[in-house]
Amino acid sequence: LSSVEVDVASIPEGKSVVVKWRGKPVFIKHRTKADIDREGALDTSTLRDPETDAIRHAPGRPEWLVLLAICTHLGCVPIAGQGDYNGYFCPCHGSHYDGSGRIRKGPAPRNLEIPEYTFVSDSVVKIG
Ligand code: FES
Repeated sequence: LSSVEVDVASIPEGKSVVVKWRGKPVFIKHRTKADIDREGALDTSTLRDPETDAIRHAPGRPEWLVLLAICTHLGCVPIAGQGDYNGYFCPCHGSHYDGSGRIRKGPAPRNLEIPEYTFVSDSVVKIG
């Protein structure tokens, strides 16, 4: 099925955008060094769905986070930049995801899903 290419060069550090891919919303966040350091330092043994930050971004590109914007609880669209963990908040039933898209509080069972994507150039991400 179709893929989509997104030029991320205009997304400032600390900002997040939503793009559509196969009819689904996808968050693309340009993370700050503070985001990367904080998420990388987290003790994953405390997590419901333990994943290191390192496996949640493209190799060598920790500044970019690409996530399906679909709550793993019942499928609402979370809000970027809200919640208690510097990431995303789903207002439907109160799930909080962190700055790596990992579930930290609330009913969602799993981390936000990561679509298949690659960097086809320094600033262009191909999703799908
Ligand atoms: Fe997100 Fe229920 S759908 S918390």
